[in-house]
Amino acid sequence: MTGPAPGDWPLEALQAQAQPLFPGLRVEAVAQIDSTNTELMRRARAGAVPPATLLVAETQTAGRGRLGRSWVTGSAGPGRLPALTFSLGVVLAPQDWSGLSLAVGVAVAGALHPALQIKWPNDLWLHERKLAGILIETAQVGGQRLAVIGIGINLEPPPADLLAGLSVPPTGLRAVCPDDSAPQVLLRVLPALLAALRQFEAGGLVPFLEAYRARDLLQGRAVLLSDGTQGTAHGIDAGGGLLVHTPAGMRTITSSEVSVRPVAPAAGRGA
Ligand code: BTN
Repeated sequence: MTGPAPGDWPLEALQAQAQPLFPGLRVEAVAQIDSTNTELMRRARAGAVPPATLLVAETQTAGRGRLGRSWVTGSAGPGRLPALTFSLGVVLAPQDWSGLSLAVGVAVAGALHPALQIKWPNDLWLHERKLAGILIETAQVGGQRLAVIGIGINLEPPPADLLAGLSVPPTGLRAVCPDDSAPQVLLRVLPALLAALRQFEAGGLVPFLEAYRARDLLQGRAVLLSDGTQGTAHGIDAGGGLLVHTPAGMRTITSSEVSVRPVAPAAGRGA
């Protein structure tokens, strides 16, 4: 056994947390699944609008990341999960969807630790290493738009043999919160996430911009875009686009198909 049984998750406490903002949220925990995002998208494609659902999995056999990448987690000691992996499927109706992953990042970072930074558009980093990822997918169901918000938070760093191709090895939350368990982390994150979703629905990204700036990993740093462009990151615009000063002028990166990486650690920050 690699962690608590599904029955050990605080399902009722999580439901109670959700009640004021998402009454009736279904909370499910499973020992193993291919991917919590894949499962909620399957349910969405099955036809009727699925009820708002939080699906937690102790193990994913085919966890997915952005840009077709896979999401892998390592192992931990007995009774300790190496990661918290869950997806939230909810119908949302914001006027403008742009920047949702940044609002989610702000909320999750705020609930986890003051030292966490957001790497545009969907990663949380700690001490120059990736700690968590966000994968948001949407489906049109019965005239409504369902968002599936998948979040993977490393509690332990995944082992190096699972990470071929990554230039910077990831880290885990226990580097700064050594006693945290996956259920405890979920109890901290869920209320912040749900509140952020309702706030985003009402006001878009604008209410999150200040908090984003305070945690912006890329601000002022040399970055390399996956299309080969080099430049310097200058924050985000009101729609969540990344502003990059390039030799050809200021460019706003909005495409979810573009990935960005800092080309050197920030001055004065250790790994
Ligand atoms: C990324 O880093 O590109 C995003 C990673 C998202 C991982 C989470 S884990 C829970 C949910 N299920 C998945 O298959 N992916 C997301």
